[in-house]
Amino acid sequence: MVGRYKEAHARSLSDPEAFWGEAAGDIAWSKPWNRVLDDSSSSSARWFVGGELNTCYNALDVHVESGRGGQAALIYDSPITGAAGRFTYIELRDEVARFAGVLADRGVGKGDRVIIYMPMIPQAIVSMLACARIGAVHSVVFGGFAANELAVRIDDAKPVAIVSASCGVEPGRVVQYKPLLDGAIDLATHKPDFCVIFQRDIATCEMVAGRDVDWQAAMADAEPHDCVPVAATDPLYILYTSGTTGQPKGVVRDNGGHAVALKWTMRNIYAVEPGEVFWAASDVGWVVGHSYICYAPLFNGNTTILYEGKPVGTPDAGAFWRVIAEHKVSTLFTAPTAFRAIRQQDPQGELIGKYDLSAFRALFLAGERLDPDTLRWAQSKLQVPVIDHWWQTETGWSICANCLGLELLPIKEGSPTSPAPGMDVQVVDDRCRPLPAGEIGALVIKLPLPPGSLPTLWNAQERFVEAYLSEFPGYYKTGDAGYIDEDGYVFVMTRTDDVINVAGHRLSTGAMEEVLASHPDVAECAVIGVADSLKGQIPLGFLVLNAGSGRTQEEVGQEVVGLVRERIGPVAAFRKAVVVERLPKTRSGKILRGTMRKIADGEQWTMPATIDDPVILEEVGEVLRKNGYPS
Ligand code: COA
Ligand code: AMP
Repeated sequence: MVGRYKEAHARSLSDPEAFWGEAAGDIAWSKPWNRVLDDSSSSSARWFVGGELNTCYNALDVHVESGRGGQAALIYDSPITGAAGRFTYIELRDEVARFAGVLADRGVGKGDRVIIYMPMIPQAIVSMLACARIGAVHSVVFGGFAANELAVRIDDAKPVAIVSASCGVEPGRVVQYKPLLDGAIDLATHKPDFCVIFQRDIATCEMVAGRDVDWQAAMADAEPHDCVPVAATDPLYILYTSGTTGQPKGVVRDNGGHAVALKWTMRNIYAVEPGEVFWAASDVGWVVGHSYICYAPLFNGNTTILYEGKPVGTPDAGAFWRVIAEHKVSTLFTAPTAFRAIRQQDPQGELIGKYDLSAFRALFLAGERLDPDTLRWAQSKLQVPVIDHWWQTETGWSICANCLGLELLPIKEGSPTSPAPGMDVQVVDDRCRPLPAGEIGALVIKLPLPPGSLPTLWNAQERFVEAYLSEFPGYYKTGDAGYIDEDGYVFVMTRTDDVINVAGHRLSTGAMEEVLASHPDVAECAVIGVADSLKGQIPLGFLVLNAGSGRTQEEVGQEVVGLVRERIGPVAAFRKAVVVERLPKTRSGKILRGTMRKIADGEQWTMPATIDDPVILEEVGEVLRKNGYPS
């Protein structure tokens, strides 16, 4: 007998129009589509062409109209500040409609961009949904990025408005957002017409007269704004993600395909019924926060949790269990690094026993490879299915998952199970030839990509084609390498580009190298990701100093650490750079970052046949040993 997963996956590939057309029946449309799928363009599929809808309507109003208005839509939990809040669907809809009025009154309309640079407070969600309500395109920038990164995004998205707050909170410190925002606007060539600033009690900020609008004052005067229908193919948001260079990629998400796919995932992948409490412990600045703190749970009529805390230290390693118990969470989604942090501090899981987790049914992990130790620990301590799933900012939802809502397949350690419906995942060699089961190659997805996946990069169609579609014609290149076993289980092994994954955060080593190279004493540099027992990977810099600079590793090392923090932000977690005489390269001049990483991690490595001078690699190995690698 063919199981529910196999049946759904096969149907989604053999007749995508019927499969997603049916799923789209679960979304409210103001105008039906003419075609489910238009894949006439060789570059990207367009879903639900001709259809019109409003994403905010599907997240909020639809539930109020169907009698769910009194249910909690959003629970805010902030263990550091002690703040808490609860918004019913009616309350959230009213708040969002008023903030939509604030934006619209000041000239923001359909297609205009709004940057949201906010901590994890309800106003961040309100801002996102308010943009969706009036057809404006939001671009949320993660709070851990520095002013320079924000400026790059301002210049690319060219926002009419920026919404921000006076500050964020991290354990032990208040992060002043306003100086970062002001600094970014100074640095950027493009200037927004206005900024709306939410003043938090814990620290207020100075306002710039004529530019800054006080959130609370503006809301007091605002008229609610209704939902504006937009085309299914119109952009809902832009989310910048790390590429191989310092210029981030603006991943575009459309309205129609996004709503259809995300709502479908809630029941079929996460097995969550409307009315239940769903918690994605991430940040609104990342794709997980967009898809699973904000949009999908609301499309599905769930209660979503906005947690402004950490897995440990706020106040202890029982923080997640407290939230699950207090808010009766049925399903938690987070990154493996959060579980490694909890396990480090509470190896026996003793704090779990202090809480009533009877409502808790499943744990989903993503964002980085799930190591078998963490998987086993979570399984044995929580006694619920622990599901690894693989996805990326570009796809917006799972590429591979164990679709709990369809059927729970046997779990294999190290694998996010099988391709999700809609995803035709294959492994190919560098000449795009399919590889047999068990052989490692590039993980690619046969086009068309399913609804919800990126149709393009913001203002960069050529870069989109170049980055994702040109290397393997007819396929989308994920940038990950891995293999598929005899049972069809996918194993994601490593990135094939200069992207590293630090505590579930995707970062570009190329961007860090650009910062290091700007130091006056640095002649050449390289950054690699080395293994870290908590964060999965952390960056490590290699510096070749200018001849006769007379500076030491300690001096320049500290300075470049400061520079990366200042230009990229604390989230880069760049803490160390070592000085080497020369960098090992191939004869064509390519730095052998992969081999350096293997040496630093103490893995087996072979001398690359194309190496220019093997002695250099030995010198680098010696420097690494002196600096405590492999650790
Ligand atoms: N605003 C400002 N600064 C921020 C920030 C934000 N929103 N988020 C993180 N930072 C800062 C931190 O304060 C820290 O600064 P520091 O160098 O001064 O200590 C730095 O960025 C690195 O932060 P982080 O990567 O979070 O490391 P950590 O050591 O503070 O915490 C974990 C480690 C594992 C507890 C933490 O990374 C975590 O909770 N991860 C969950 C992963 C996650 O949510 N992933 C999203 C995808 S699902
Ligand atoms: P991001 O776009 O920030 O979500 O990062 C996406 C990248 O994180 C992927 O391309 C993978 O390299 C990695 N990743 C995400 N989820 C997983 C997973 N379950 N297993 C292995 N790698 C993952």
